[in-house]
Amino acid sequence: MRQCIELAKRGEGAVSPNPLVGCIVLDAAGNKISEGRHEKYGGNHAECNALQGVEAQGGTLIVNLEPCSHHGKTPPCTDLIIEKGIKRVVIGMRDPNPLVNGVKQLREAGIEVIEGVLEHECRRLNEVFVVNKTENRIFVAIKTAATLDGKTATANGSSKWITSESARAEVRNIRKRYDAIMTTSATVLADDPEMEHKTKIILDRNSRLSGNEKIFQQGAHLVRGEGGITLLNELYELGIMSVLIEAGGRFNGEMLESTDKIYHFIAPKITGDNSAKSCFDFRKITDINDSLNFQIDSVKHFGPDILLEYYPK
Ligand SMILES: NC(=O)c1ccc[n+]([C@@H]2O[C@H](COP(=O)([O-])OP(=O)(O)OC[C@H]3O[C@@H](n4cnc5c(N)ncnc54)[C@H](OP(=O)(O)O)[C@@H]3O)[C@@H](O)[C@H]2O)c1
Repeated sequence: MRQCIELAKRGEGAVSPNPLVGCIVLDAAGNKISEGRHEKYGGNHAECNALQGVEAQGGTLIVNLEPCSHHGKTPPCTDLIIEKGIKRVVIGMRDPNPLVNGVKQLREAGIEVIEGVLEHECRRLNEVFVVNKTENRIFVAIKTAATLDGKTATANGSSKWITSESARAEVRNIRKRYDAIMTTSATVLADDPEMEHKTKIILDRNSRLSGNEKIFQQGAHLVRGEGGITLLNELYELGIMSVLIEAGGRFNGEMLESTDKIYHFIAPKITGDNSAKSCFDFRKITDINDSLNFQIDSVKHFGPDILLEYYPK
């Protein structure tokens, strides 16, 4: 299943709004004979790519997402699995799409189905797809980079670079998982950033940008109106399934309660300046029990820095 997840990840940036899927086929003796993945939107499903041209009679098929049992852009994968004589199917998670009933169909055909293998990892892998299908809305993530004392920039806006090249390379990987990235006029004015992504959305409700900033030379969409929930809903209607916000503390704070996930890089530095910019700056609380609560899902190291991935509790 871990191999399936790694295979599936190679589709990041190419399969949305479809899920990320990887598949491995073992022969009757348990030896791996093929692999396949969902490579691009509208293309073959992973199971189909893995089964094409292989003799899999009596074999095992391992896949991170329940195989489809309905006609979509491609024929049902369950038909092919049954036709190939597969005896056992191992699945990471059920498909959140209620139209999919693959497990039932496979069991009815006499195939042994083992479910829930590395389910947590499989759900994380397709967290955007799950939110899209179950809540019919865009998935919102924030990326921020801060010092040990929680600052994303000095009081005068200097923030290049808080984190190491290794952490910034990971940011480029994270961007690939999202259909769009979003930032603000304030951040563009302070940093004049270059962000590699096919869909960049810049909020500039007070027309403070000239259009000559570097980000516009790379191609970016300028939004002059409000950038809150209404805009996110409009983006979803346009087929943007997920957005990564890369802004300063004020916009991060404004969006925090509408956010599904936070990527929080921490560099081992301390500014020591109370007036430096905080990574979430949106309200004053007097009672610590009024803090927003989160659940840390993972801690990863990138050079000298760490990345916390966390979710609202
Ligand atoms: N370390 C990091 O990860 C990182 C990342 C990005 C930025 N930064 C730093 O953060 C600093 C900027 O932070 P900041 O807190 O001053 O600014 P910010 O959070 O990036 O942006 C605040 C601005 O966003 C606009 N905005 C807020 N809500 C909006 C809405 N609903 N619709 C449309 N626009 C909205 C407003 O622009 P108007 O004023 O035009 O209304 C507001 O001034 C910079 O110094 C930058 O270097 C650090």
